Amino acid sequence: MTAAVSHPVKNGLTGDFAVPGDKSVSHRALIFAALAEGDTEIHGLLESEDVLCTAAALRAMGAEIRAEDKEDGRVWHVTGTGGQLVSPEAPLDLGNSGTSARLLAGVIAGAGITACLAGDASLSKRPMDRVVQPLSKAGAKFRQENAESSLPLWIEGAEKPQPIIYDSPVASAQVKSAVLLAGLFAEGQTRLRESATSRDHTERMLEAFGVAVTRSIIVGGGHEVMIEGPARLVSPGRLDVPADPSSAAFPVVAALLLRGSNLVLRGVMTNPTRAGLFKILQKMGADLRFENERMLGGEPVADLRVRSGARLKGIGVPEINVPSMIDEYPVLAVAAAFAEGKTRMEGLAELRVKESNRLEKIAAGLKLCGVQAIIEEDDLIVLGRGDLSVAGGAQIETGFDHRIAMSFLVLGAAARKAVTIDRADAISTSFPGFIEKMNACGCDLRLAEKNLGQAMP
Ligand code: S3P
Repeated sequence: MTAAVSHPVKNGLTGDFAVPGDKSVSHRALIFAALAEGDTEIHGLLESEDVLCTAAALRAMGAEIRAEDKEDGRVWHVTGTGGQLVSPEAPLDLGNSGTSARLLAGVIAGAGITACLAGDASLSKRPMDRVVQPLSKAGAKFRQENAESSLPLWIEGAEKPQPIIYDSPVASAQVKSAVLLAGLFAEGQTRLRESATSRDHTERMLEAFGVAVTRSIIVGGGHEVMIEGPARLVSPGRLDVPADPSSAAFPVVAALLLRGSNLVLRGVMTNPTRAGLFKILQKMGADLRFENERMLGGEPVADLRVRSGARLKGIGVPEINVPSMIDEYPVLAVAAAFAEGKTRMEGLAELRVKESNRLEKIAAGLKLCGVQAIIEEDDLIVLGRGDLSVAGGAQIETGFDHRIAMSFLVLGAAARKAVTIDRADAISTSFPGFIEKMNACGCDLRLAEKNLGQAMP
């Protein structure tokens, strides 16, 4: 329970910023390696709380996972189970991690084992019916222990899993991945349709492990993914995790807001299903360049070069952008607060069911910092302060949400007065070392001596 303060800084951010490994790819790397035949070495794994929860859960289900320190960094070794998992003895504690809960629900449903998923106060409130519904079609059984919350959730995997054919009501990579993971164990074609393409790391990783994936565009909108089961996963031997664009978003926006910045972030994933924020920032007038574009671990990556220059301009962000930047709206809203003119971000209903109600948290935090922010149904409107500057000087309740925490620390760096967040400890969910790394390139973030009021979890 640690508070942190972001003091305004006068100079820009400079140097090389080492962005940690991608969270989504790290979860999947561990899960696929644990289900595969053969051993896998994972390089660049994100060692955040969320990802370590997935590792611990897989260990409890019979996978052998260990880390080894080498001269050029840490390597994670996973001994594949060939899909032969065991029912864990105790409930799986998934902490704050929605991705662990939804993806592992798919694994458990398909692998025919019995397990109980548990998590912290935030995760326990997040909707699980979005995976319970399709996974029930495979023959898995679910029991909630508590009427008001989704977790703890007991899952009895299907003895003979049936292939799922599902038209997903939300464009969610977690739902898509849960269905595809269960489909690996089922005989026949598993098909998942979604109205817009959510992040496609699962599809890419299936292919890396030797499973054919058919992707088709649906006439009239959306797309379908199909795999044929039962499918053997064969380890490629080595997996490399590229740097996380969702984590890169914070230093990128900070650099854009602070005059005199010239920052390089190497090997950041630029997968089009994830790069929405970077495109929007460029449209707002950001000097953000992609250099040395290449492939790493089956994903496109580039070195990002960010220079502060002309003031950003407010922009309309239509709903179609939501899947490719779902986690980046908090920090986009911060960029919009400093921009010239109005930014309208449309169709943000999903933000209400993230680690916190992000729509409410962003609007409330911005208002406290002297920025007009209005929620109109599912849209967020931010009236940029432009030349008038942003006051800051607020204490932000993060709701133990890592992305709210980091976004308001970024705001504090560029505001007139320091901004305090109540839970800096939430940041290790996705970005261990954030404070040290931001400070090394010019920020002034300090852990507070005195803790603020108690909150979640
Ligand atoms: C994730 C998918 C996204 C994202 C989350 C990670 C994933 O959630 O918000 O942080 O790794 O599949 P949805 O797919 O539910 O939108």
